[in-house]
Amino acid sequence: MMIYLDNSATTIPEEEVLQTFTQVNRTYYANPASLHQAGNKAEQLLASARKQIATLAGDSESTVIFTSGGTEANNLAVVGYANSLKHRGNHIITTEIEHDSVRNACLHLQQEGFEIDFLTVNESGEVSPEELKQKIRKDTILVSIMHVNNEIGTIQPIEACSKVIREHSRAIFHSDCVQSLGKLPLPYPEWVDAVTLSAHKIHGLKGTGCLITKKFKEPEAITFGGGQELGFRSGTANVAGAVAFAKAVRIVIEQNNLPNYKRWSERLRNLLDAEKLVRICSPEEGAPHIFTVAFKGITGEVAVNYFQAHGIMVSTSSACSSKTNKVSHVIQAIHVPDDYRKGVIRISFGKMNTEEDIDTLVQVIKEFLKMIKKGMKLHDME
Ligand SMILES: Cc1ncc(COP(=O)(O)O)c(C=O)c1O
Repeated sequence: MMIYLDNSATTIPEEEVLQTFTQVNRTYYANPASLHQAGNKAEQLLASARKQIATLAGDSESTVIFTSGGTEANNLAVVGYANSLKHRGNHIITTEIEHDSVRNACLHLQQEGFEIDFLTVNESGEVSPEELKQKIRKDTILVSIMHVNNEIGTIQPIEACSKVIREHSRAIFHSDCVQSLGKLPLPYPEWVDAVTLSAHKIHGLKGTGCLITKKFKEPEAITFGGGQELGFRSGTANVAGAVAFAKAVRIVIEQNNLPNYKRWSERLRNLLDAEKLVRICSPEEGAPHIFTVAFKGITGEVAVNYFQAHGIMVSTSSACSSKTNKVSHVIQAIHVPDDYRKGVIRISFGKMNTEEDIDTLVQVIKEFLKMIKKGMKLHDME
């Protein structure tokens, strides 16, 4: 049996969530927009999933817009707010280390004539509220800063950023909370106006996510069609997906696996801290489910293959960029030294992991280190 330690890429679905998805699809297959009784029932289920997620997020009056996942929700936030607020200004602020679904949406807007400022980060991946204060303007319409970074686990100072934004602008504050949901309390509704969530990172199912916004602070739609999802996202609703998502959110919030993740990441940190061939990229005070390291003089792909050959699945820095073989923008932004930057691997924990998994991982890392110390030609395994 392989040990799965790539939970920031995706998680193993919860059995209860899978069952809910199948049952709802089997029983309540009607289109919630249909007028007949079965349609009404599907509509009720959808509305109740919406309410549950809003309530679990901390404000039952919120607008929950179901999407196909975190990517679409981030696109909707960035492009949708830019379009709905362009009468007030064309300045947007984000960070150097956002997920590509925010970053590329911002680059798209730049092409369209919006002015985008990318906040720099320090070696831990943190933005500075001070720099935000320097960059924010009266015509800033949107600030998008992720809560937890998906490649290295940095937690951004959302509260301090929020205070700066509120004091100096009328901008909407959006935060990608895909990696923080279930691990940290959401900064919503207290500090941000809108958050992105994704089901498959919390033992839910791929293809479901949402944007949650405060009431009357919704973005303009970016899809055009029948006006489903309260007019904000057209397309026949995925009722079973929404109900299963609500269940996954409830389960992940009720359980607390953080003590395990903390213990495991501390164990890895103690093991690797003094190793000259290793540079730990994840900050000590970061989210404990993500532990990213860079090995000197080898490629991440070689390391991933070695771990795989020894029964362990990990990834290079982020699953999305892992096939392109490029040094990710996050690793560049935190200035990992040249001879380490190609050798990055991300180990990420999930609720299905056990103490024995981590014992095995530690053994495999020790063996791997022995091999690189001997200078063995690891690229033979490529
Ligand atoms: C921080 C972050 N934002 C957004 C996404 C995109 O989510 P999805 O895979 O649901 O499109 C991911 C997933 O990789 C992520 O880690």
